[in-house]
Amino acid sequence: MSPTIDYLRISLIDRCNFRCQYCMPEGADLAYVLQQDILTHDELLVLLQEVFIPCGFTRFRLTGGEPLLRPDVVEIVRSIASLPQTQDLSMTTNGFRLADLAEDLYSAGLNRINISLDSLEPETFDRIIGNRGRSRWEQVWAGIQAAYQVGFNPLKLNVVVIPGVNDHEVLNLAALSLEREWHIRFIEFMPIGNAGLFTDKGWLDSETLRQQIRDRWGLTEGQVRGNGPADVFQIPGAKGTIGFISQMSECFCDRCNRMRLSADGWLRPCLLNETGQIDLKTALRSGKPLASIHTQVQELLALKPEINFKMRDSGTTGAYSRTMSQIGG
Ligand code: GTP
Ligand code: 5AD
Ligand code: SF4
Repeated sequence: MSPTIDYLRISLIDRCNFRCQYCMPEGADLAYVLQQDILTHDELLVLLQEVFIPCGFTRFRLTGGEPLLRPDVVEIVRSIASLPQTQDLSMTTNGFRLADLAEDLYSAGLNRINISLDSLEPETFDRIIGNRGRSRWEQVWAGIQAAYQVGFNPLKLNVVVIPGVNDHEVLNLAALSLEREWHIRFIEFMPIGNAGLFTDKGWLDSETLRQQIRDRWGLTEGQVRGNGPADVFQIPGAKGTIGFISQMSECFCDRCNRMRLSADGWLRPCLLNETGQIDLKTALRSGKPLASIHTQVQELLALKPEINFKMRDSGTTGAYSRTMSQIGG
């Protein structure tokens, strides 16, 4: 049976202050959305109240690019959190601005936060995020600490495992869960967008990583709150948990419960397939009746199970050319 589709990933902006080698490397030809094409706070709210909530969406994640670059991010959080139908409001961020914003985001009603942290070694980290100046690792680490201190729980750290770059750090990263109530998630590297340019060594499957951790400490099944596809485990006696997102080795397309709204208002049914996408910004700005936009979204919802990209069948992500920053993670 197809899952209920009630999770909307909302990209607030397609720009980013990092240049992750697997996403938007320096020099890559990225056509940014024009400022005037980005959905405003008010437009987003109208779409949520008049279209998405009536269509059954109750769980929302704010993504980017980097969502904390959006000047009105705290107001957007406050507005969405105060809608009575919102059951979960979360964010995925690179953490660079979090030391300054964690408290305001928490007070505004953000429930959960996922922060990218691909390395514990400042040098490796800077290499991955394409940083050439003063290391940015400390600032991101300070952001993670700030988020934890203000009370975000679960606090998830996303690690994209890149063969030959950070795969030697799996045990050190997993060890973060021993003493802290953090959730460390290892994500299989997807060769999409510019990612294919970064490594010719392919991707590493979750089971190989799991086995390393099992051999060192043992591993039992665990639990953490979330709407995503992670499989959750725990090192016996650890305060935190460990997750694996295995889109390459264990296709989870059949369980997909989400749709994506891009920063410029395209509603897309799948990370890797744009069939049936709807230009909600143009519909809204042209004064099209909200009732008919609602009908269009419902039609797309009904079609989604057929549209879902089936990685299991193709064994790859296909030659998908958009980057994560453009599709919203
Ligand atoms: P939780 O609600 O905390 O479980 O969040 P999440 O796992 O949905 O969110 P997050 O933004 O942290 O996503 C983590 C990773 O999951 C992304 O980097 C992607 O690699 C992967 N991912 C998320 N959504 C999809 C999807 O629809 N398809 C595929 N193939 N991968 C996805
Ligand atoms: N494969 C897997 N995960 C990726 N991310 C970005 N690009 C890729 C990729 N090619 C992750 C980021 C962040 C999330 C939004 O997407 O590291 O955690
Ligand atoms: Fe920015 Fe995230 Fe892309 Fe890195 S992965 S460049 S942090 S949008």
